[in-house]
Amino acid sequence: MLDVASGTGASAVFLAESFGWEVVGTDYSAELVGQARRRAREAGLGHLVRFELGDSESSPFPDGAFEAPICQCYFCTFPDKHTAAREFARVLRS
Ligand SMILES: C[S@@+](CC[C@H](N)C(=O)[O-])C[C@H]1O[C@@H](n2cnc3c(N)ncnc32)[C@H](O)[C@@H]1O
Repeated sequence: MLDVASGTGASAVFLAESFGWEVVGTDYSAELVGQARRRAREAGLGHLVRFELGDSESSPFPDGAFEAPICQCYFCTFPDKHTAAREFARVLRS
């Protein structure tokens, strides 16, 4: 699963903890990526969750890399929601 704009990692860690899903979170704040990594490590979920620095408007992931996206408390702020939604679709497996 891809967590776009993962912030401090709360959603990604919750999903891994609750459902055992593998989650990759991305955020463009190095400080928040650091906090998210610490949260996952402290929860003992480093094997399921990882966080990467990146701009969600130019995702570094290949086509079809994920089964589902989450974008909690952030999608509404995208200036161009159609482009953002197309990018989500691109990285999803059909
Ligand atoms: C309101 S927080 C949501 C955090 C998280 N999804 C949650 O629910 O806890 C918004 C996040 O979006 C990130 N952000 C904003 N614009 C971004 C962009 N273009 N690419 C990646 N992250 C971005 C911010 O750094 C911040 O962590």
